[in-house]
Amino acid sequence: MNPHEFQQFLLGWYDRAGRKDLPWQQERTPYRVWVSEIMLQQTQVSTVIPFFERFMEAFPSLEVLAKAEIDQVLHLWAGLGYYSRARNLHRAAQQVCNLYHNRFPDQLQILCDLPGVGRSTAGAILSLAFDRPFPILDGNVKRLWARLHGIETWSGESSTQRRLWGLSERYLPAKRAADYTQALMDFGATVCTRSRPECDSCPFQDACRAYKDGLVGKIPVPRPKRSKPVRNSYWLLLVDEQSRLYLERRPTTGVWGGLWSFPCWDSRTALEKHCLEIGIASHAMKWLRPRRHTFTHFQLEYTPVLAKMTLPPSTIKDKPSCWIASANEPEVAVPTPVRKLLREFGSHNMLT
Ligand code: ADE
Repeated sequence: MNPHEFQQFLLGWYDRAGRKDLPWQQERTPYRVWVSEIMLQQTQVSTVIPFFERFMEAFPSLEVLAKAEIDQVLHLWAGLGYYSRARNLHRAAQQVCNLYHNRFPDQLQILCDLPGVGRSTAGAILSLAFDRPFPILDGNVKRLWARLHGIETWSGESSTQRRLWGLSERYLPAKRAADYTQALMDFGATVCTRSRPECDSCPFQDACRAYKDGLVGKIPVPRPKRSKPVRNSYWLLLVDEQSRLYLERRPTTGVWGGLWSFPCWDSRTALEKHCLEIGIASHAMKWLRPRRHTFTHFQLEYTPVLAKMTLPPSTIKDKPSCWIASANEPEVAVPTPVRKLLREFGSHNMLT
């Protein structure tokens, strides 16, 4: 879709259906726009309205806000959440008063240096308050671009982020900057919504890649699931002459606290060193394939090694321990991977 066409469609939609009666759209000063944009960063319009009105009554200007006690600012913020926004607002007001003599800056870089103001908020202030063509890229706009262009990568990726900013710049009109920015925000909030967007009445239906490909419900794609870190562990499966396996009670704190498990080490070498100490030669050991067990925050990759033991158990380790016959279900509490290994050993599948 060419930018001119996009602007025509969007501004046409805005003239018909956009919001023009929000409190910060009346008496539009940079100060009021800035405060509203900060309040709207993580909070929806209907919640913000009464807070905005009370805030403006208490702090009608930048100077009043800069001179206020932080406690009073926080008090008026109570209920909006994300209180760092209130602290930043207060500090930024003092910064503007001290450095710029109460005149709200209109330079992108200076705005971006104010606490709590990022590139998108700075763009919103410049376009909404000064009617200057600066791009924004908030959550609503990201969603709109991602659907229109069928972007199937997560917006947190830096390459996707660059692409999305590129689209914000590409579609930006030279005129009607304030209306255009408000239109983008309103369109994302009311038509191209996250769930159940109103594609039937959307002016961009014919141009929308996601609509044509049936991907509206899939775009924007969520943050990819973090792959969990992998921790390695090496487990010694000592077998006695009666084919029983040796278990130890784990310390009460930490993973599987108090359960019974095979002796384990973080490295293969540490396990081998221990085996030498208890008289097991490396040729008497049989390494089995590694397996994985998933915890909430990490995966455990455990590698079992089978070793025949001929010494009496008391010489092994100075810890609560037992020998158990693998044919039966263990009589002590064991974690699932241990239970699985016992079963495997009992059914003679272990060496396959
Ligand atoms: N979200 C962020 N800024 C907004 C604005 N000016 N109007 C409506 N929603 C918004």
